[in-house]
Amino acid sequence: MDALQGKISKWKFVLLLVMVSAESGTGQLSVDYYKASCPNLETIVQQTMVQKFNATPVVAGGMLRLVFHDCMVLGCDASVLISSTQNNTAEKDADDNLSLPGDAFDGVMRAKAAVEAQCPGVVSCADLLVIAARDLLAMVGGPSWEVAKGRLDGKISMASAVPGNLPSATDDLDKLTALFASKGLNQSEMVALSGAHSVGFAHCNQFMRRVYNFNATYKIDPTINPLYAAQLRESCPQVNLDPTVVVFLDDTTPRIFDNVYYQNAQKGLALLSSDQVLFTDERTRPIVNSFAADNSTFLNSFVSAMQKLTSVGVKTRGSADGEIRQNCGAVNT
Ligand SMILES: *[C@@H]1O[C@H](CO)[C@@H](O)[C@H](O)[C@H]1NC(C)=O
Ligand SMILES: *[C@@H]1O[C@H](CO)[C@@H](O)[C@H](O)[C@H]1NC(C)=O
Ligand SMILES: *[C@@H]1O[C@H](CO)[C@@H](O)[C@H](O)[C@H]1NC(C)=O
Ligand SMILES: *[C@@H]1O[C@H](CO)[C@@H](O)[C@H](O)[C@H]1NC(C)=O
Ligand SMILES: *[C@@H]1O[C@H](CO)[C@@H](O)[C@H](O)[C@H]1NC(C)=O
Repeated sequence: MDALQGKISKWKFVLLLVMVSAESGTGQLSVDYYKASCPNLETIVQQTMVQKFNATPVVAGGMLRLVFHDCMVLGCDASVLISSTQNNTAEKDADDNLSLPGDAFDGVMRAKAAVEAQCPGVVSCADLLVIAARDLLAMVGGPSWEVAKGRLDGKISMASAVPGNLPSATDDLDKLTALFASKGLNQSEMVALSGAHSVGFAHCNQFMRRVYNFNATYKIDPTINPLYAAQLRESCPQVNLDPTVVVFLDDTTPRIFDNVYYQNAQKGLALLSSDQVLFTDERTRPIVNSFAADNSTFLNSFVSAMQKLTSVGVKTRGSADGEIRQNCGAVNT
């Protein structure tokens, strides 16, 4: 009897601790979060992503973008997935959403539908987004890790929250550093996360200035490889520019997640100014060089940085500003 009492009060104590930590906002994410409530979660998402990837391989880079955008703006709470309503212009329709990838949105919606069929009302869209990105990354040769879960979905998504929270293609190192630091990410983590550009692409308007009218002294950005600049001029002509044209961010191995992105920066082959500056500026050059020299150094740093990024501003169990969204595209009514 006494032993049982002891056990019960021990459990009460543990429960209390869990509740207190959740309420204080430092809530814990855990790998086993859905172990009892949705044991097949990871398999379901994995299968959905394999199908999605086979149909549209570019979804891998797109999903990374979506996670990044989500976590940088109001924390990792799937606020980026919410559609605008009559009353509200949502995050994804902000001017600087840089045309977010529709395939990635579709991938999360499919994962949600598949998961709801087995575990209704249990798994957050915010967690699905991170698991999906992790799975897709592995399909393009990237590293894998166990995703800690327990993020709740946010109830707010505002276009007005976007400006100032995402890097711009023309940001210099000071701006980039300050932005990432405001999310608790240091320069090594910033350079590692930029490696997401190993897969993915950009529209011409993100870099055309670099190859046509850089500044009063130089028509072409002096940090760009001249042959590469000529190639970019061909892809993105000033006259009759097709606005749907996209250019790979890693021209050498655009479909493989690897450290070649950093090797490109060493040769002036980075597409965006905000990528090239990581090498040009001597404060981050040693980090670029270390990643360029060794795949595994990069991949390990990328995983650590992703784990940190995906815990920025999370809302966890007990948080009043979070919920399990029924439809990833809309706040519950
Ligand atoms: C828009 O706001 C009005 C008044 O604030 C509210 O009654 C209505 O339900 C809202 N509509 C939507 C689609 O959110
Ligand atoms: C991004 O914003 C533009 C308007 O600024 C909008 O037309 C477009 O649909 C948005 N992209 C996504 C994926 O919502
Ligand atoms: C950034 O943080 C990581 C993890 O805490 C640490 O290993 C790394 O040395 C830090 N880098 C810099 C430049 O401070
Ligand atoms: C143009 O850019 C170069 C390289 O960044 C810089 O050295 C130069 O001062 C700039 N010229 C003007 C007029 O801003
Ligand atoms: C890194 O891995 C990629 C893909 O496996 C490979 O193409 C590349 O040569 C490797 N780079 C180095 C420096 O090992």
